[in-house]
Amino acid sequence: MKALVFGSLNIDLIFSVDHIVSPGETISSSSLIKSAGGKGANQAAALAKAGLPVYMAGKIGQDGTFLLSLLQSYGVNTDRVVRYEGATGQALIQLDKNRQNAILLFSGGNAQITIEEILRTLEEFGRGDLIVLQNEIVHVQKIMEAAKNRGLTICLNPSPYDQKIETLPLDLVNILFVNEIEGAALAGKGAETPLPQVLDRLVTRFPGAEIILTAGKDGAYYGFKDIREKGAIVDMPVVDTTGAGDTFTGYFIAARSRNMPIDRALAIACKAASYAVSRMGAMEAIPLAAEIF
Ligand code: RIB
Repeated sequence: MKALVFGSLNIDLIFSVDHIVSPGETISSSSLIKSAGGKGANQAAALAKAGLPVYMAGKIGQDGTFLLSLLQSYGVNTDRVVRYEGATGQALIQLDKNRQNAILLFSGGNAQITIEEILRTLEEFGRGDLIVLQNEIVHVQKIMEAAKNRGLTICLNPSPYDQKIETLPLDLVNILFVNEIEGAALAGKGAETPLPQVLDRLVTRFPGAEIILTAGKDGAYYGFKDIREKGAIVDMPVVDTTGAGDTFTGYFIAARSRNMPIDRALAIACKAASYAVSRMGAMEAIPLAAEIF
């Protein structure tokens, strides 16, 4: 089985601030760290660190070369990441004293991926392989349809959530990863709805998909047909939550690929995410397999 992550690669600029800046306000940050991120690249890094053979596809500018070097150092095959003349995607991340963040994205190369590049990449993958997608690149619908035609298993993390998600062919998804906000939106429920109810609604709405609902400190919920499981986090000091969901996604898929039962895969993924939040940054904060399995 080959795992293909078709997704975003971003340069993350992390500003440490007292509080998230308000409209019209100017504040200073106590530090600025440039690090590697992008939901797609983070998920590829998590899969590779968890020990899976991983292929990354996406688009970067010259300023993103360090992202490729880092991914390669984790064992990710980056041959399908295309370079172009413009800028790499960027995420301006404000991290406040309570470890809350706010993220402003510039799509850069993530919005320049072409249909031709998508079809060319997918030609190398087929039945038995798996594709991991998020919502930070263009043409997600096209990728889903082409991947399904080639028999790939589709894992979707519809993040960051926006109106476009409802226009995607969500019935093609085999494994759906959502957080509380995305889950409630897709379930058509209010934010205060108990998570087991949100999960039940998602299972009914997407009967062909395994649903994983992540819930921060409350761990993660799993639902498929009549099966329900729950995983708990490991108590770790929270330094930076950026990329925690990406870490969870990569480790859950890796654990299932190792034929671990659902409850064990949830525990592994929750543990990996707990370790990730105890460190600064996204991609570099993702733990190694030896720390987790
Ligand atoms: O999921 C975390 C990621 O979201 C960050 O690395 C940032 O690049 C944004 O895309």
